[in-house]
Amino acid sequence: MKDENFLKANNARSLWHPMTAPSDSLKNPPAIITGGHGVRIRDVDGHEVVDGVGGLWNVNLGYSCQPVKDAIAAQLDRLPYYSIFRGTTNDQVIELAEELRKFFEPDGLTRAFFTSGGSDSVETALRLARQYHKIRNEPGRVKYLSLKKGYHGTHTGGASVNGNANFRTQYEPLLPGCYHIPAPFPYRNPFNESDPAKLAALCLQALEDEIAFQGASTVAAFIMEPILGAGGVIPPHSSFMPGVAEICRRNGILLIADEVITAFGRTGAWTGSRLWGVKPDFTCTAKAITNAYFPFGAVMIAEAVAEVFESDETGMAAIGHGYTYSGHPVGAAAALATLAETQRLKINENAAARGAELFAGLQALKERHEVIGDVRGGHGLMNAVELVADRASKKPADKATPGKVQAKTYQEGAMVRVSGNNIILSPPLILTSADVQVILKALEAGFASL
Ligand SMILES: Cc1ncc(COP(=O)(O)O)c(C=O)c1O
Repeated sequence: MKDENFLKANNARSLWHPMTAPSDSLKNPPAIITGGHGVRIRDVDGHEVVDGVGGLWNVNLGYSCQPVKDAIAAQLDRLPYYSIFRGTTNDQVIELAEELRKFFEPDGLTRAFFTSGGSDSVETALRLARQYHKIRNEPGRVKYLSLKKGYHGTHTGGASVNGNANFRTQYEPLLPGCYHIPAPFPYRNPFNESDPAKLAALCLQALEDEIAFQGASTVAAFIMEPILGAGGVIPPHSSFMPGVAEICRRNGILLIADEVITAFGRTGAWTGSRLWGVKPDFTCTAKAITNAYFPFGAVMIAEAVAEVFESDETGMAAIGHGYTYSGHPVGAAAALATLAETQRLKINENAAARGAELFAGLQALKERHEVIGDVRGGHGLMNAVELVADRASKKPADKATPGKVQAKTYQEGAMVRVSGNNIILSPPLILTSADVQVILKALEAGFASL
Protein backbone atom coordinates (compact mmCIF):
# COMPACT_ATOMS: atom_id res chain seq x y z
CA MET A 1 0.00 0.00 0.00
CA LYS A 2 1.21 3.53 -0.76
CA ASP A 3 2.02 5.55 2.31
CA GLU A 4 -0.42 7.76 4.16
CA ASN A 5 0.98 11.00 2.69
CA PHE A 6 0.52 9.74 -0.87
CA LEU A 7 -3.07 8.70 -0.15
CA LYS A 8 -4.02 11.97 1.51
CA ALA A 9 -2.31 14.11 -1.14
CA ASN A 10 -4.03 12.31 -3.99
CA ASN A 11 -7.44 11.65 -2.40
CA ALA A 12 -10.09 12.40 -5.06
CA ARG A 13 -7.52 14.02 -7.39
CA SER A 14 -7.74 11.44 -10.16
CA LEU A 15 -11.15 9.87 -9.61
CA TRP A 16 -14.75 10.95 -9.50
CA HIS A 17 -16.88 9.55 -6.72
CA PRO A 18 -20.42 8.22 -7.27
CA MET A 19 -23.26 10.27 -5.81
CA THR A 20 -21.27 13.41 -5.11
CA ALA A 21 -20.04 16.51 -6.94
CA PRO A 22 -16.40 16.20 -8.07
CA SER A 23 -15.72 19.67 -6.61
CA ASP A 24 -17.14 18.56 -3.26
CA SER A 25 -14.82 15.54 -3.04
CA LEU A 26 -11.87 17.86 -3.68
CA LYS A 27 -12.99 20.36 -1.05
CA ASN A 28 -14.01 17.73 1.51
CA PRO A 29 -11.74 14.74 0.91
CA PRO A 30 -13.46 11.44 1.75
CA ALA A 31 -12.44 9.32 4.75
CA ILE A 32 -9.84 6.82 3.54
CA ILE A 33 -10.81 3.40 4.86
CA THR A 34 -7.93 0.97 4.92
CA GLY A 35 -9.07 -1.88 7.16
CA GLY A 36 -12.09 -3.68 8.52
CA HIS A 37 -12.84 -6.49 10.96
CA GLY A 38 -16.04 -7.68 12.60
CA VAL A 39 -18.42 -4.71 12.47
CA ARG A 40 -15.59 -2.19 12.62
CA ILE A 41 -13.68 -0.20 10.01
CA ARG A 42 -10.34 1.61 10.39
CA ASP A 43 -9.17 4.69 8.51
CA VAL A 44 -5.75 5.70 7.26
CA ASP A 45 -5.04 7.46 10.58
CA GLY A 46 -5.76 4.29 12.53
CA HIS A 47 -9.10 5.63 13.86
CA GLU A 48 -11.49 2.70 14.35
CA VAL A 49 -15.29 2.95 14.45
CA VAL A 50 -18.39 0.75 14.37
CA ASP A 51 -19.68 0.80 10.80
CA GLY A 52 -23.24 2.02 11.20
CA VAL A 53 -23.61 1.92 7.41
CA GLY A 54 -22.64 -1.73 6.90
CA GLY A 55 -20.61 -0.81 3.81
CA LEU A 56 -23.62 0.27 1.75
CA TRP A 57 -26.42 -1.83 3.29
CA ASN A 58 -24.50 -4.90 2.17
CA VAL A 59 -21.82 -6.14 4.59
CA ASN A 60 -24.45 -8.04 6.56
CA LEU A 61 -21.98 -10.55 8.02
CA GLY A 62 -19.29 -7.99 8.79
CA TYR A 63 -15.74 -7.68 7.53
CA SER A 64 -14.28 -10.92 8.91
CA CYS A 65 -16.49 -13.55 7.33
CA GLN A 66 -13.85 -16.20 6.75
CA PRO A 67 -16.04 -18.80 4.95
CA VAL A 68 -16.85 -16.25 2.24
CA LYS A 69 -13.22 -15.16 1.91
CA ASP A 70 -12.11 -18.79 1.71
CA ALA A 71 -14.76 -19.63 -0.89
CA ILE A 72 -13.61 -16.73 -3.08
CA ALA A 73 -9.94 -17.65 -2.75
CA ALA A 74 -10.58 -21.31 -3.48
CA GLN A 75 -12.74 -20.54 -6.51
CA LEU A 76 -10.11 -18.17 -7.90
CA ASP A 77 -7.69 -21.08 -7.83
CA ARG A 78 -10.16 -23.57 -9.34
CA LEU A 79 -11.90 -21.55 -12.07
CA PRO A 80 -11.64 -17.75 -11.90
CA TYR A 81 -14.13 -17.17 -14.72
CA TYR A 82 -16.33 -18.81 -17.25
CA SER A 83 -19.38 -17.40 -18.98
CA ILE A 84 -22.89 -18.86 -18.74
CA PHE A 85 -24.08 -17.45 -22.05
CA ARG A 86 -25.72 -19.96 -24.40
CA GLY A 87 -23.97 -23.30 -24.43
CA THR A 88 -21.79 -23.15 -21.30
CA THR A 89 -22.20 -22.92 -17.55
CA ASN A 90 -20.19 -23.56 -14.41
CA ASP A 91 -20.61 -25.80 -11.39
CA GLN A 92 -20.94 -23.01 -8.82
CA VAL A 93 -23.82 -21.24 -10.51
CA ILE A 94 -25.83 -24.46 -10.87
CA GLU A 95 -25.48 -25.15 -7.16
CA LEU A 96 -26.28 -21.55 -6.25
CA ALA A 97 -29.49 -21.52 -8.31
CA GLU A 98 -30.66 -24.63 -6.43
CA GLU A 99 -29.86 -23.03 -3.05
CA LEU A 100 -31.59 -19.78 -3.97
CA ARG A 101 -34.62 -21.74 -5.15
CA LYS A 102 -34.88 -23.30 -1.67
CA PHE A 103 -34.30 -19.97 0.08
CA PHE A 104 -36.93 -18.11 -1.97
CA GLU A 105 -39.43 -20.97 -2.17
CA PRO A 106 -41.72 -19.38 0.48
CA ASP A 107 -41.88 -16.29 -1.77
CA GLY A 108 -42.95 -18.47 -4.70
CA LEU A 109 -39.73 -17.70 -6.61
CA THR A 110 -38.16 -20.67 -8.32
CA ARG A 111 -35.74 -19.49 -11.04
CA ALA A 112 -32.73 -17.19 -10.95
CA PHE A 113 -31.23 -14.84 -13.52
CA PHE A 114 -27.78 -13.66 -12.47
CA THR A 115 -26.42 -10.13 -12.69
CA SER A 116 -23.47 -8.02 -11.52
CA GLY A 117 -25.35 -5.81 -9.04
CA GLY A 118 -28.58 -4.12 -8.04
CA SER A 119 -29.00 -1.78 -11.01
CA ASP A 120 -28.49 -4.74 -13.33
CA SER A 121 -31.08 -6.74 -11.41
CA VAL A 122 -33.65 -3.94 -11.73
CA GLU A 123 -32.96 -3.56 -15.45
CA THR A 124 -33.31 -7.32 -15.91
CA ALA A 125 -36.68 -7.47 -14.15
CA LEU A 126 -38.05 -4.47 -16.05
CA ARG A 127 -37.03 -5.98 -19.38
CA LEU A 128 -38.24 -9.51 -18.64
CA ALA A 129 -41.59 -8.07 -17.50
CA ARG A 130 -42.16 -6.52 -20.92
CA GLN A 131 -41.06 -9.71 -22.62
CA TYR A 132 -43.48 -11.77 -20.50
CA HIS A 133 -46.41 -9.76 -21.81
CA LYS A 134 -45.17 -9.98 -25.41
CA ILE A 135 -44.94 -13.77 -25.15
CA ARG A 136 -48.51 -13.81 -23.83
CA ASN A 137 -49.65 -11.75 -26.79
CA GLU A 138 -50.19 -8.54 -24.84
CA PRO A 139 -47.47 -6.44 -26.51
CA GLY A 140 -49.19 -3.19 -25.51
CA ARG A 141 -48.19 -3.70 -21.87
CA VAL A 142 -45.01 -1.63 -21.83
CA LYS A 143 -45.40 0.98 -19.07
CA TYR A 144 -43.96 0.89 -15.57
CA LEU A 145 -45.44 2.24 -12.35
CA SER A 146 -43.46 2.93 -9.19
CA LEU A 147 -43.36 4.96 -6.00
CA LYS A 148 -42.13 8.49 -5.52
CA LYS A 149 -39.14 8.31 -3.15
CA GLY A 150 -38.33 4.80 -4.41
CA TYR A 151 -34.74 4.00 -5.40
CA HIS A 152 -34.01 1.48 -8.11
CA GLY A 153 -30.41 2.07 -9.10
CA THR A 154 -28.95 4.18 -11.83
CA HIS A 155 -29.31 2.43 -15.18
CA THR A 156 -31.64 4.34 -17.46
CA GLY A 157 -34.60 2.04 -16.83
CA GLY A 158 -33.99 2.07 -13.09
CA ALA A 159 -33.50 5.83 -13.01
CA SER A 160 -36.77 6.21 -14.92
CA VAL A 161 -38.73 4.37 -12.24
CA ASN A 162 -36.76 6.09 -9.47
CA GLY A 163 -38.79 8.50 -7.42
CA ASN A 164 -36.21 11.08 -6.45
CA ALA A 165 -35.26 14.10 -8.57
CA ASN A 166 -31.58 13.88 -7.53
CA PHE A 167 -31.12 10.78 -9.63
CA ARG A 168 -33.23 11.93 -12.56
CA THR A 169 -33.08 15.60 -13.48
CA GLN A 170 -29.53 15.81 -14.89
CA TYR A 171 -30.07 12.68 -16.96
CA GLU A 172 -33.39 13.47 -18.58
CA PRO A 173 -35.06 12.62 -20.87
CA LEU A 174 -35.54 9.24 -19.24
CA LEU A 175 -37.52 6.25 -20.47
CA PRO A 176 -41.04 7.15 -21.68
CA GLY A 177 -43.99 5.35 -20.11
CA CYS A 178 -42.93 5.53 -16.44
CA TYR A 179 -45.41 6.93 -13.92
CA HIS A 180 -45.14 7.45 -10.18
CA ILE A 181 -47.61 7.38 -7.34
CA PRO A 182 -47.19 8.95 -3.87
CA ALA A 183 -45.17 6.95 -1.36
CA PRO A 184 -46.91 5.82 1.84
CA PHE A 185 -44.71 8.19 3.87
CA PRO A 186 -46.61 9.43 6.92
CA TYR A 187 -44.15 12.24 7.76
CA ARG A 188 -44.44 13.94 4.36
CA ASN A 189 -47.16 13.24 1.80
CA PRO A 190 -49.48 15.21 -0.49
CA PHE A 191 -52.58 14.04 1.41
CA ASN A 192 -51.48 15.64 4.69
CA GLU A 193 -52.33 12.30 6.32
CA SER A 194 -50.18 11.08 9.21
CA ASP A 195 -52.13 7.91 10.02
CA PRO A 196 -50.18 5.09 8.30
CA ALA A 197 -53.21 2.87 7.61
CA LYS A 198 -55.32 5.70 6.17
CA LEU A 199 -52.36 6.90 4.14
CA ALA A 200 -51.75 3.41 2.74
CA ALA A 201 -55.39 3.32 1.60
CA LEU A 202 -55.03 6.72 -0.09
CA CYS A 203 -51.85 5.66 -1.90
CA LEU A 204 -53.54 2.45 -3.05
CA GLN A 205 -56.43 4.56 -4.33
CA ALA A 206 -53.90 6.70 -6.23
CA LEU A 207 -52.48 3.52 -7.77
CA GLU A 208 -55.95 2.37 -8.87
CA ASP A 209 -56.58 5.81 -10.28
CA GLU A 210 -53.31 5.84 -12.24
CA ILE A 211 -53.96 2.38 -13.67
CA ALA A 212 -57.45 3.42 -14.77
CA PHE A 213 -56.00 6.58 -16.31
CA GLN A 214 -53.19 4.80 -18.19
CA GLY A 215 -55.34 1.80 -19.08
CA ALA A 216 -54.36 -1.47 -17.40
CA SER A 217 -53.66 -3.04 -20.79
CA THR A 218 -50.73 -0.63 -21.29
CA VAL A 219 -48.96 -1.37 -17.98
CA ALA A 220 -46.27 -4.05 -17.75
CA ALA A 221 -45.20 -3.87 -14.11
CA PHE A 222 -45.22 -2.08 -10.80
CA ILE A 223 -41.87 -1.96 -9.01
CA MET A 224 -41.42 -1.19 -5.31
CA GLU A 225 -39.08 -1.72 -2.39
CA PRO A 226 -40.87 -3.53 0.47
CA ILE A 227 -39.33 -0.89 2.74
CA LEU A 228 -38.06 2.16 0.88
CA GLY A 229 -34.35 2.44 1.64
CA ALA A 230 -32.25 5.10 -0.05
CA GLY A 231 -35.29 7.41 -0.23
CA GLY A 232 -35.05 7.74 3.56
CA VAL A 233 -36.04 4.40 5.13
CA ILE A 234 -39.81 4.50 4.78
CA PRO A 235 -41.60 1.39 6.07
CA PRO A 236 -45.14 1.34 4.67
CA HIS A 237 -48.15 0.27 6.71
CA SER A 238 -48.55 -3.52 6.68
CA SER A 239 -51.61 -3.21 4.42
CA PHE A 240 -49.72 -1.43 1.66
CA MET A 241 -47.69 -4.06 -0.19
CA PRO A 242 -50.48 -6.68 0.03
CA GLY A 243 -52.82 -4.01 -1.37
CA VAL A 244 -50.43 -3.30 -4.24
CA ALA A 245 -50.13 -7.03 -4.97
CA GLU A 246 -53.92 -7.43 -5.09
CA ILE A 247 -54.38 -4.44 -7.42
CA CYS A 248 -51.59 -5.66 -9.70
CA ARG A 249 -53.03 -9.18 -9.88
CA ARG A 250 -56.52 -7.88 -10.64
CA ASN A 251 -55.14 -5.76 -13.49
CA GLY A 252 -52.72 -8.27 -15.03
CA ILE A 253 -49.74 -6.15 -13.95
CA LEU A 254 -46.56 -7.88 -12.76
CA LEU A 255 -45.21 -6.98 -9.33
CA ILE A 256 -41.45 -6.49 -9.06
CA ALA A 257 -40.12 -6.43 -5.51
CA ASP A 258 -36.85 -4.54 -5.43
CA GLU A 259 -35.16 -6.32 -2.53
CA VAL A 260 -31.61 -5.22 -3.27
CA ILE A 261 -31.49 -4.00 0.34
CA THR A 262 -34.19 -6.04 2.05
CA ALA A 263 -33.44 -9.61 0.90
CA PHE A 264 -31.42 -11.89 3.18
CA GLY A 265 -32.59 -10.71 6.58
CA ARG A 266 -32.14 -6.97 6.89
CA THR A 267 -35.79 -6.30 7.83
CA GLY A 268 -35.85 -9.05 10.44
CA ALA A 269 -37.67 -11.32 7.98
CA TRP A 270 -35.74 -13.30 5.38
CA THR A 271 -37.21 -11.10 2.65
CA GLY A 272 -39.21 -7.89 2.64
CA SER A 273 -41.98 -9.55 0.65
CA ARG A 274 -42.26 -12.28 3.30
CA LEU A 275 -42.42 -9.58 5.97
CA TRP A 276 -45.62 -8.32 4.35
CA GLY A 277 -46.93 -11.72 3.20
CA VAL A 278 -46.66 -10.96 -0.50
CA LYS A 279 -45.59 -13.20 -3.38
CA PRO A 280 -44.10 -11.03 -6.13
CA ASP A 281 -43.54 -11.99 -9.76
CA PHE A 282 -39.90 -10.92 -9.74
CA THR A 283 -37.55 -10.13 -6.86
CA CYS A 284 -34.38 -8.13 -7.47
CA THR A 285 -31.42 -8.95 -5.23
CA ALA A 286 -27.74 -7.98 -5.02
CA LYS A 287 -25.66 -6.39 -2.23
CA ALA A 288 -25.69 -8.83 0.72
CA ILE A 289 -26.00 -11.85 -1.60
CA THR A 290 -22.17 -12.08 -1.41
CA ASN A 291 -21.82 -10.10 1.81
CA ALA A 292 -20.48 -7.34 -0.51
CA TYR A 293 -17.24 -9.21 -1.08
CA PHE A 294 -17.96 -9.72 -4.80
CA PRO A 295 -20.20 -7.63 -7.13
CA PHE A 296 -23.12 -9.93 -7.85
CA GLY A 297 -26.89 -10.06 -8.05
CA ALA A 298 -29.82 -12.30 -8.90
CA VAL A 299 -33.33 -11.71 -10.14
CA MET A 300 -35.63 -14.37 -8.74
CA ILE A 301 -38.59 -15.32 -10.90
CA ALA A 302 -42.01 -16.67 -9.89
CA GLU A 303 -43.04 -20.14 -11.03
CA ALA A 304 -46.01 -18.85 -13.07
CA VAL A 305 -43.82 -16.36 -14.94
CA ALA A 306 -41.17 -19.02 -15.51
CA GLU A 307 -43.77 -21.34 -17.01
CA VAL A 308 -44.77 -18.72 -19.59
CA PHE A 309 -41.15 -18.38 -20.74
CA GLU A 310 -40.37 -22.08 -20.60
CA SER A 311 -43.46 -23.27 -22.47
CA ASP A 312 -43.07 -20.81 -25.36
CA GLU A 313 -42.42 -22.43 -28.73
CA THR A 314 -42.50 -19.32 -30.92
CA GLY A 315 -38.97 -18.14 -30.12
CA MET A 316 -40.29 -14.98 -28.40
CA ALA A 317 -39.03 -16.19 -25.03
CA ALA A 318 -35.39 -16.24 -26.12
CA ILE A 319 -33.67 -13.98 -23.61
CA GLY A 320 -31.78 -11.25 -25.44
CA HIS A 321 -30.37 -9.93 -22.22
CA GLY A 322 -27.46 -10.78 -19.92
CA TYR A 323 -24.13 -9.60 -18.63
CA THR A 324 -20.59 -10.86 -19.21
CA TYR A 325 -20.42 -11.48 -15.48
CA SER A 326 -23.88 -13.08 -15.12
CA GLY A 327 -23.29 -16.20 -13.04
CA HIS A 328 -19.60 -15.43 -12.45
CA PRO A 329 -18.21 -18.54 -10.71
CA VAL A 330 -16.33 -16.53 -8.07
CA GLY A 331 -19.47 -14.52 -7.30
CA ALA A 332 -21.53 -17.70 -7.21
CA ALA A 333 -19.03 -19.34 -4.82
CA ALA A 334 -19.14 -16.22 -2.63
CA ALA A 335 -22.95 -16.26 -2.67
CA LEU A 336 -23.11 -19.95 -1.75
CA ALA A 337 -20.86 -19.39 1.27
CA THR A 338 -22.74 -16.22 2.23
CA LEU A 339 -26.12 -17.89 2.04
CA ALA A 340 -24.94 -20.80 4.19
CA GLU A 341 -23.45 -18.46 6.81
CA THR A 342 -26.45 -16.13 6.72
CA GLN A 343 -28.80 -19.01 7.49
CA ARG A 344 -26.50 -20.72 9.99
CA LEU A 345 -26.28 -17.53 12.05
CA LYS A 346 -30.03 -16.80 11.61
CA ILE A 347 -29.01 -13.19 11.17
CA ASN A 348 -32.58 -12.15 10.45
CA GLU A 349 -33.35 -12.82 14.13
CA ASN A 350 -30.41 -10.74 15.28
CA ALA A 351 -31.41 -7.99 12.84
CA ALA A 352 -34.88 -7.90 14.40
CA ALA A 353 -33.61 -7.85 18.01
CA ARG A 354 -30.79 -5.34 17.50
CA GLY A 355 -33.02 -3.29 15.21
CA ALA A 356 -35.58 -2.92 18.00
CA GLU A 357 -32.85 -1.70 20.38
CA LEU A 358 -31.46 0.77 17.87
CA PHE A 359 -34.92 2.10 16.98
CA ALA A 360 -35.81 2.61 20.65
CA GLY A 361 -32.49 4.38 21.23
CA LEU A 362 -33.04 6.70 18.28
CA GLN A 363 -36.53 7.55 19.52
CA ALA A 364 -35.01 8.45 22.89
CA LEU A 365 -32.53 10.72 21.09
CA LYS A 366 -35.49 12.49 19.50
CA GLU A 367 -36.80 13.37 22.97
CA ARG A 368 -33.55 15.20 23.69
CA HIS A 369 -32.69 16.85 20.37
CA GLU A 370 -35.06 19.30 18.69
CA VAL A 371 -33.25 18.96 15.37
CA ILE A 372 -34.67 15.46 14.98
CA GLY A 373 -38.00 15.75 13.20
CA ASP A 374 -38.68 12.09 12.54
CA VAL A 375 -37.18 8.70 13.42
CA ARG A 376 -37.99 5.81 11.11
CA GLY A 377 -37.44 2.09 11.39
CA GLY A 378 -39.01 -0.65 13.44
CA HIS A 379 -38.27 -3.48 11.01
CA GLY A 380 -34.78 -4.84 11.48
CA LEU A 381 -31.62 -2.86 10.97
CA MET A 382 -32.85 -0.10 8.66
CA ASN A 383 -33.23 3.30 10.27
CA ALA A 384 -33.34 6.96 9.33
CA VAL A 385 -33.23 10.09 11.44
CA GLU A 386 -34.62 13.10 9.60
CA LEU A 387 -33.23 16.49 10.61
CA VAL A 388 -35.39 19.61 10.50
CA ALA A 389 -34.89 23.33 11.07
CA ASP A 390 -38.05 23.34 13.17
CA ARG A 391 -40.47 20.60 14.04
CA ALA A 392 -43.67 22.55 13.41
CA SER A 393 -42.93 23.49 9.78
CA LYS A 394 -40.81 20.33 9.13
CA LYS A 395 -38.50 22.56 7.08
CA PRO A 396 -35.40 20.46 6.34
CA ALA A 397 -32.36 21.29 8.48
CA ASP A 398 -29.68 23.56 7.08
CA LYS A 399 -27.59 21.69 4.47
CA ALA A 400 -24.47 21.64 6.64
CA THR A 401 -26.20 20.19 9.73
CA PRO A 402 -26.25 16.44 8.88
CA GLY A 403 -22.57 16.61 7.88
CA LYS A 404 -21.69 18.19 11.23
CA VAL A 405 -23.52 15.45 13.08
CA GLN A 406 -21.83 12.80 10.95
CA ALA A 407 -18.32 14.22 11.52
CA LYS A 408 -18.70 14.36 15.31
CA THR A 409 -20.35 10.91 15.40
CA TYR A 410 -17.41 9.53 13.45
CA GLN A 411 -14.92 11.07 15.87
CA GLU A 412 -16.88 9.51 18.71
CA GLY A 413 -16.81 5.99 17.30
CA ALA A 414 -19.48 5.34 14.65
CA MET A 415 -19.74 5.79 10.89
CA VAL A 416 -23.21 6.95 9.81
CA ARG A 417 -24.39 8.01 6.38
CA VAL A 418 -25.85 11.33 5.28
CA SER A 419 -28.47 11.38 2.54
CA GLY A 420 -30.08 14.81 2.06
CA ASN A 421 -31.38 15.82 5.48
CA ASN A 422 -31.47 12.21 6.67
CA ILE A 423 -28.96 10.25 8.66
CA ILE A 424 -29.21 6.65 7.55
CA LEU A 425 -28.26 3.60 9.58
CA SER A 426 -27.84 0.13 8.08
CA PRO A 427 -25.18 -1.65 10.15
CA PRO A 428 -24.01 -5.22 9.69
CA LEU A 429 -26.63 -7.70 10.91
CA ILE A 430 -24.13 -9.38 13.24
CA LEU A 431 -24.18 -6.26 15.42
CA THR A 432 -24.20 -6.83 19.21
CA SER A 433 -26.15 -4.87 21.83
CA ALA A 434 -22.86 -3.29 22.91
CA ASP A 435 -22.28 -2.13 19.30
CA VAL A 436 -25.78 -0.62 19.24
CA GLN A 437 -24.85 1.40 22.32
CA VAL A 438 -21.61 2.58 20.68
CA ILE A 439 -23.61 3.91 17.72
CA LEU A 440 -26.20 5.60 19.96
CA LYS A 441 -23.59 7.19 22.22
CA ALA A 442 -21.62 8.50 19.25
CA LEU A 443 -24.80 9.92 17.70
CA GLU A 444 -25.75 11.54 21.01
CA ALA A 445 -22.40 13.36 20.93
CA GLY A 446 -23.02 14.24 17.28
CA PHE A 447 -26.35 15.89 18.05
CA ALA A 448 -25.05 17.54 21.22
CA SER A 449 -22.30 19.19 19.15
CA LEU A 450 -24.76 21.30 17.11
C1 LIG B 1 -33.49 -0.85 -3.69
C2 LIG B 1 -32.29 -0.70 -4.54
N1 LIG B 1 -32.34 -1.08 -5.82
C3 LIG B 1 -31.28 -1.01 -6.63
C4 LIG B 1 -30.08 -0.51 -6.17
C5 LIG B 1 -28.90 -0.42 -7.09
O1 LIG B 1 -27.93 -1.32 -6.75
P1 LIG B 1 -26.42 -1.15 -7.26
O2 LIG B 1 -25.89 0.10 -6.61
O3 LIG B 1 -25.74 -2.42 -6.80
O4 LIG B 1 -26.46 -1.05 -8.74
C6 LIG B 1 -29.97 -0.12 -4.84
C7 LIG B 1 -28.70 0.41 -4.30
O5 LIG B 1 -28.64 0.95 -3.21
C8 LIG B 1 -31.10 -0.20 -4.00
O6 LIG B 1 -31.06 0.20 -2.73
